[in-house]
Amino acid sequence: MDGSIGIPVVRRDAAAKASGAAQYAADFPHAGTAYAALVTSKVARGRITAIDTMAAEAVPGVQMVLTHHSLNEGLGKETFAMKGGHMQSSFMPLTSDEVHYAGQIVCLLIADTQEAAEQAAGLVAVEYATEHASAAMDDPGHEEEPMEKKAIDVGDALAAFAAADVSVDATYLTPAQHHNPIELYAATCAWRDGKLLVNTPSQWVKGKQAALAEIFGIPMEDVHIESPYIGGGFGSKATLLAHTVLVAMAARRLGRPVKLVVPREAMFTVGSFRPATRSRVRLGAKKDGTLTAVLHDEVGQSAVIDHVAFPATEVTARMYASPNIRTRQATIATDVNTPGFQRAPAEAPGFFGFESAVDELAIKLGMDPVELRVRNEPERDPVKGLAWSSRSLVPCFRRGAELFGWSKRNPEVGSMTTPDGLLIGMGCATATYPSAMAPSSARVRLSADGTCVVYCGAHDLGTGAYTVLGQVAADVLGVPDELVRVHLGDSTLPSGPVAGGSITTGSSGAAVHMAALAVRDRLLAAAGDGNPAGWSLAGGQVIGPDGHGRPVAEVVGAVTGGVIEETADWKPDALSDDQMRAGLAGGMAFAGPTTEKHASYSFGAQFAEVHVDPLLRTVRVARMVGVFACGRIINPRTARSNLAGGMVWGASFALLEESQVDRPRARFANTDLAGYHISTNADIGEVVVETIHEDDLVVNPIGAKAVGEIGIVGMNAAIANAVYHATGTRVRKTPILVEDLL
Ligand code: MOS
Repeated sequence: MDGSIGIPVVRRDAAAKASGAAQYAADFPHAGTAYAALVTSKVARGRITAIDTMAAEAVPGVQMVLTHHSLNEGLGKETFAMKGGHMQSSFMPLTSDEVHYAGQIVCLLIADTQEAAEQAAGLVAVEYATEHASAAMDDPGHEEEPMEKKAIDVGDALAAFAAADVSVDATYLTPAQHHNPIELYAATCAWRDGKLLVNTPSQWVKGKQAALAEIFGIPMEDVHIESPYIGGGFGSKATLLAHTVLVAMAARRLGRPVKLVVPREAMFTVGSFRPATRSRVRLGAKKDGTLTAVLHDEVGQSAVIDHVAFPATEVTARMYASPNIRTRQATIATDVNTPGFQRAPAEAPGFFGFESAVDELAIKLGMDPVELRVRNEPERDPVKGLAWSSRSLVPCFRRGAELFGWSKRNPEVGSMTTPDGLLIGMGCATATYPSAMAPSSARVRLSADGTCVVYCGAHDLGTGAYTVLGQVAADVLGVPDELVRVHLGDSTLPSGPVAGGSITTGSSGAAVHMAALAVRDRLLAAAGDGNPAGWSLAGGQVIGPDGHGRPVAEVVGAVTGGVIEETADWKPDALSDDQMRAGLAGGMAFAGPTTEKHASYSFGAQFAEVHVDPLLRTVRVARMVGVFACGRIINPRTARSNLAGGMVWGASFALLEESQVDRPRARFANTDLAGYHISTNADIGEVVVETIHEDDLVVNPIGAKAVGEIGIVGMNAAIANAVYHATGTRVRKTPILVEDLL
C-alpha cells in the first residue's frame, strides 16, 4: 500500500496496542524490582513537626523509608521547566519540613512487594503545624500580580471602547482541571555500572535525560529514558516529575530497581494541572459590526511555589482586525502544586471567555455570529502587522456553516425544538493554536531488503507520530507502507523535541524529510556510479537517464554494507545554530508562533448543536462540526482522530470538567474518575471533522502546521453560545451545570 503523505495510513502501533503487546512504562520487567508507595500531605500549608515511621519500617519486606530526614544527599540543581530547566516544579519534596500544598509527597516507602509498601504507607504517622491555606483563586484575601512584560497595547483601546456604538463587557471563569490520562504516572529506575535506566511515560525523553544527568552528576549518555508508548499525556508527562528523582535515588541507595506507579488520587497533586482562569473581555464595535476595540484582561491561578501562568491574550489579541487592542495578564498565587501544560494550556480556557464575548457582541448588534467574525478578518497580524504564514479562518467558517446547516438556524432564542420537545441551540466559535517549531534530528535507513526505518527521539502520545513520521520518509523514498518501521520515544535515538505545543509533526517531520532527501541523493548517486544527474526515483525503481529502471533494493544491495543511512538536524529558520544545538541537547528551543516576518497559527471554526430539556435543564451535545486549516495534513485519519478528540474534550470542558476545591482544607476534592467527570460516549453525539488544505512552506519544508491541540479550543465557547441560543441564559463559567440554567 502507498504510505506516502496524504494517505490515511492505519496506525503502525494499532495492533500492538489492541492486542496488549505494547509495553507501557510500568510493564517493563526488571529482575529484583522493589516497589514504592507514597504518603502525601493531608494539610495544605505548614510544617511537618513529627513523622513516625517505626511501625512502617516493621512491616515485613519493607526495605527503605524516605522522609525529609533521610533525603540528605547533595543532588545537582535542576530548575523548573518554565525557567529554562526540565522540572515540573521549582519545589522538590522531601528536601525540607515545609508543606506547600495538599497532596505533597512527605514520605516514600520501598518494599519487596507493592502490598507491603502500601501497608507500610498506611502506618506512617505525620504531625503538622498548619497555617491558613487557600487553593482557590477567588478565596478572599488574594492579590493579583501583574505580568507587565506580557501587556499588549495597540492604539488607544480604553478610549475606543468608551466611544464604541455597541459594546460588551463581561467576565468569564474556568476552573482548575486535571489531565487524568488513563495511564498513571509511573517510573521504574534501575542502576547498572553507574548508569541509570528509567522506564517512564514521557513526552520529552531528551529533556528528562538531561535533567537526571544534571541531578545525579553523571554524563548524559549514562542516562537512558525509555518511553515507547504513552497512555495519554496531554502535557502532564512533558516535564520531569519529582517522584522520578526520588525513585532513582532510592534505587541507587538500595542497589535494586525500584518501581512506583502513582495512584489516581495522587495524580492530582504529584504532577501538574490546568489552573483556573478569570477573563474580563471588552469588545467595542460600530453598528455595522466593525470592531473598534478589543480588550482582554486575564488572571490565572498560580502556585505560591511557582508564579506561572499561561495567558491566552497573546493569541486573542491576534484574532480579529481592530485598530485598538489592549491585553493585560496577572496571576494569583494559591497553595497548590505547580500548574502546568494541559492541552492548549492558554487557548482552551482563554477562548471560552473571548469567543463567548464575540457571541454576546453579535447578539447586541443583531448580527449573525459567523458574519461578525468574517467581517473582522485581519489581513495581517493586528498586533505587529506581520504577514500570516497562512490563515484560512474564513474558508473554515464558510465550509463549517455549510456542513453544519447553519443557514437553517433561526437566530431567535428558544425558537427551535426537536420533535420530542427539547430546546435546540446552535452556536459557533473560532479555534486557533500557535504553530511553533523546534529543532529535531532524525535518522533514516534504507536497506537492501526494501525496508525503510525512521529513528527519532520524538514521541507518539497516541496521536499518530509513529505513523505520520514514517509517511514523510515513505513519501520521499517511495517505500510501500508495509516496509516502513519507526522507532520513537527513547533517549538513545537522534534527539527529538518535547511533544508539546503541537510541534512534533512539523518539527520532527521536517527532520525526517531532510534525512530522507539525503538518503535519496545517495541512492541516486549510487545508481549513477557517483553521478546522480539524470537519475530519479519512481515506483520502487531508480530510473536512469536512458529511461531504464533498477529496483531500489538492488541499488541499495550493491552499496557497501547494504544500507543507505543518513542523519539530519533540522531547525526552524528563526533559530540560530547555537539555539539548535541547545535544543538538540535537551533544551526547550521554540521558534514562533511569531518571528520577525511571520505569524504562524492553525485556525478552525467550531459549531455545536445542543439539546436542552425545557424542565430538567439538562444539556446534551447532539452534534459538533469542526473545520480546521492546519497546513498540509500528512495523515487524514490520525489528524481527524486528534481533532475529534480535542472537540470531545471541548464538550467535556464546557459541561463536565472541574477539579473541585474543598475550600476549608485547601485541597482538590474529587480526586478520582467517579468524582471528576469527563465525557463518555453517551455524552457525545455526532462529531464531524474536516480540514482545509494549505501548503504552509513558511513554517517548514513539509508544510505542516499544528494539529494536536487546536481541536479543544473554542468548542467550550461554541457550546456555551449554543446553550444561550436554546435557553436565553448566558452562562459565563464552565462547567455549565443544570443549576446554572434553572
Ligand atoms: Mo501540550 S499541553 O503543549 O503537551
